[in-house]
Amino acid sequence: MPREHLTEILAAGLAAPSGCNKQTTSVIGVDDLALVKRLYAAITPQGDAPPVGSTSPAMVCVLARRIIAYGDRTYFVHDYAAAIQNMLLAAVALGYQSCWVEGYVTDADRLGRVMADMLDVPQEYELVCYLPIGVAAEPVARVRKKPFYERAWFNGFGKR
Ligand SMILES: Cc1cc2nc3c(=O)[nH]c(=O)nc-3n(C[C@H](O)[C@H](O)[C@H](O)COP(=O)(O)O)c2cc1C
Repeated sequence: MPREHLTEILAAGLAAPSGCNKQTTSVIGVDDLALVKRLYAAITPQGDAPPVGSTSPAMVCVLARRIIAYGDRTYFVHDYAAAIQNMLLAAVALGYQSCWVEGYVTDADRLGRVMADMLDVPQEYELVCYLPIGVAAEPVARVRKKPFYERAWFNGFGKR
């Protein structure tokens, strides 16, 4: 994983829109292979299968801060979702595959904090997701999506 590629992926994340331009998302690219392996090991529960993407040579850790945009509104989830989508697109454009892995890290056992502590992340940042980055060992099978006209229309709901 060349550093320039990982940098390009991170930059794509930071280029994403954010509510009121609060830029609540930060990112850490991890390309130190020993650290990547330690992170995956730390979030593999005893006796369980390793998490998604755990053979990847690099990963992006996505950090979020619950900054208020205005009043009592925060858009931090929208913000990091947009950043993640940008990074997934950038990774694929560069010939890599990835996966939005959030379930593991934000569940009750708070494995995100375990990863964050290993990366010296201050407490006010939440590690909300990681993206494994690597070249897929096998061709990637597309998941089945609902038919186009079940979810998309023109000029009015349900109209073709
Ligand atoms: C908010 C969110 C959380 C996700 N969390 C996980 C996860 O924890 N583990 C995982 O394997 N995939 C996760 N995914 C990936 C979805 O499973 C995947 O996008 C979906 O099955 C559709 O597949 P596609 O992205 O190939 O179209 C997540 C996706 C989103 C948008």
